[in-house]
Amino acid sequence: MPRTTASAPALSASASAAATPTPEAPAAALAALLPWFAAHQRPLPWRRGYRPYHVWISEVMLQQTQMDRAVDYFLRWTARLPDVAAVAAAREDEVLKLWEGLGYYSRARNLHAAARAMVEGHGARVPEAMDALLALPGVGRYTAAAVRSIAYGHDEPLVDANVARVFCRLFDLDAPVGEAATQRELWRLAGALLPPGRAREHNQALMELGALVCTPRGPRCAACPLAPACEARRLDIAPHRPVPGKKKDITPLALATGVLVHRGRVFVQKRAPGDVWGGLWEFPGGCVEPGETPAQAVVREFMEETGFAVRVAAPLTVIRHGYTRFRVTLHCFALALDADPPAPVLTEAVDWQWAGARELAALAFPAGHRKLLDWLAAGGHLEDLAP
Ligand code: ADE
Repeated sequence: MPRTTASAPALSASASAAATPTPEAPAAALAALLPWFAAHQRPLPWRRGYRPYHVWISEVMLQQTQMDRAVDYFLRWTARLPDVAAVAAAREDEVLKLWEGLGYYSRARNLHAAARAMVEGHGARVPEAMDALLALPGVGRYTAAAVRSIAYGHDEPLVDANVARVFCRLFDLDAPVGEAATQRELWRLAGALLPPGRAREHNQALMELGALVCTPRGPRCAACPLAPACEARRLDIAPHRPVPGKKKDITPLALATGVLVHRGRVFVQKRAPGDVWGGLWEFPGGCVEPGETPAQAVVREFMEETGFAVRVAAPLTVIRHGYTRFRVTLHCFALALDADPPAPVLTEAVDWQWAGARELAALAFPAGHRKLLDWLAAGGHLEDLAP
């Protein structure tokens, strides 16, 4: 049977008239969605009262982050920063520390900058108008629509990865969701199916359905309120929708870093703004160049980045982790200096300190370095640090 792609011009996503799930058919089935949401929604903290500040923070945290993790971070964040004014007044170090481990730190830096813009231009409130929201750092079409519909109750459709999967199955869209034409179709469908006056519940119900029932693998169609209208289910191809896009190439990356302890304190430096980890703290280090051993690399990197002539005292551990499109192997060493060091000459970082245990605990590190710190703590290696 011919099937239209997501770029089909009309609401019918399938070319076959007889079997076409017109928007009217899903619209009828969608009547079951709101009662389903009322019965099955998770008791998420921002759903108590739907304060715009809470909705905004939660939506930014939920991008690229699993729900359970986002809830933990949300509770910690809002306990320390209860409103827009508190975020605006916070130091960047503290904002990054509250974000530590969530990754994609530009989200935290943008929250900080957006809070300051809200204090400057919106009376320390999350704005309600679409153009005002879109003018904020880090707020795109999805986040603006989420705030407008979920916090303020406006009739604003939205599409995230969960909604996209639900629609790709409901309408049997057979083009990858990352394609611009598919996105246009998904947003158009979202607008066409939005029940006036119910956007808060409807949008969340679609996302909740995608998270709990219409899952990427093993969708539980028997429990789905939309099953009677679902074209992919009728064709028995739900697990094959959405169709996959092009896989990102994964690049291996060998890095070396070193823990330099001197007189009970560890040398750490703060990364300059401008890259993914800007504003975070780290142990100096860098790429292992061709022809170089990791131990040689860490000695060279220390000299280049700080001017310190360190020697390798011992290998510590090898940490593997992934970020964006990289698979990182981080070779970690214990380093030593044979004489008291002068002040470092920083070439890449913007700040430095010799940190004791308390300082180390308060600083935000990128994931690999935080894993190294946890490894050091678990092995008792930090016990002799200054408190
Ligand atoms: N994903 C992002 N925002 C959400 C929300 N408000 N409810 C459920 N899932 C979500």
